[in-house]
Amino acid sequence: MRASAFVFDLDGVIVDTAKYHYLAWKKLANELGFEFTKEQNELFKGVSRKRCLEILLDIGGITAAQEQFDRWMVEKNEDYLEYIEKMDASEILPDVPKVVGFLKDRNIPIALGSASKNARPILEKVKLLPSFDAIVDGNDVSKAKPDPEVFLIAAQKLNVAPENCVVFEDAVAGIQAANNADMISIGIGDAQILSEADYNFNDFTEISLAFLESLMSVQA
Ligand code: BG6
Ligand code: MG
Repeated sequence: MRASAFVFDLDGVIVDTAKYHYLAWKKLANELGFEFTKEQNELFKGVSRKRCLEILLDIGGITAAQEQFDRWMVEKNEDYLEYIEKMDASEILPDVPKVVGFLKDRNIPIALGSASKNARPILEKVKLLPSFDAIVDGNDVSKAKPDPEVFLIAAQKLNVAPENCVVFEDAVAGIQAANNADMISIGIGDAQILSEADYNFNDFTEISLAFLESLMSVQA
């Protein structure tokens, strides 16, 4: 299938914000009297804020009334935003600008497809907002990855058929969402974890421009 548009996940693909999510969730866990490890944080990749808090409270064996639950969601996000506030273009992951620049030079449309409700401010901070032709984030979707909704809306906004879209993702749920959308999935990270992806790379430094060219010219 010939690729004519590209969709990027944000957290873990464009920027390494997982470390900030981790610090904010860990602070809340510690306040509530339990530990939260980096290994447990892996479960939070690609998962909505609400679902993350549900998992965190499960880990701590805590049940909460709705009001308290909502307050903790706000508290975690306020802590997370303090980290975001300090971000700049130096936090863009290696060779992401190379790939984005290559696609822009060829007038290939690109979209963001993220579960985060903070996607726009983060893209603004790292100065990538103007590069995207469409943004679909946690404010636009009703169904979380692995549901394909986020990527299907992105394809619609770019006016490209799903099967002609390529998705860059670092989360298992994200790769599944791309596959469920009938898109070409590229796993960024551990190939064993992201084994359902059509292609795997550890990071963007491993993605050659020739590979991108090949995706854009292959007819199947
Ligand atoms: C995803 C992250 O991109 O966004 C998750 O991988 C995060 O870890 C989710 O929980 C929601 O992010 P936010 O910024 O809306 O809390
Ligand atoms: Mg991600």
